[in-house]
Amino acid sequence: MALRTIVTVDDDNPVLRSRSQPVPAVSRRIRQLMDDMVETMRDAEGVGLAAPQVGLDIQVVVVEVPEDLEDPEGPKQLWTLANPRIVSQSEAMEEGREACLSIPDLFGDVPRHQRIVVEALDRFGRTQRIALEDFAARVFQHEIDHLNGILYPDRVTGPEKLYYLEEDADGEWVKVPARSRV
Ligand code: NI
Repeated sequence: MALRTIVTVDDDNPVLRSRSQPVPAVSRRIRQLMDDMVETMRDAEGVGLAAPQVGLDIQVVVVEVPEDLEDPEGPKQLWTLANPRIVSQSEAMEEGREACLSIPDLFGDVPRHQRIVVEALDRFGRTQRIALEDFAARVFQHEIDHLNGILYPDRVTGPEKLYYLEEDADGEWVKVPARSRV
């Protein structure tokens, strides 16, 4: 396994805004990429990573989230997938905080479908249908957006939903509106 370099918006690389190509088959090369992406995601302490974020416009994502959000250090569930697509989604939306390894320091409150079903190929090339809800559903929607060149700031409902977090003199984290810093 090897760490890959994460492309950020500061790199001005069009890959982050590209539509990624489907993987024709999950080859050894794709499995190697999945392994590298897992290592890169963990090294960066992320919960998901999409291939465009390591410079490749192909439909590969990895996601790793805690089984119990109350216990972030506890057991985690890992997915390494090719060609993921959302085949059904709840009408119910929920707004929640997101960040992105390709957008350093920024946070956003982003509306997402609360429940989705994803169809994808696993690392053995088998078709999987995966039912997801809440945080895991959020992370999958964020990563699948990357495969369509969409970044989470595109999804927020107003400029006040994008912010930095800074520690004030009392050690409290306070929101600093993004527009005052860009
Ligand atoms: Ni991202």
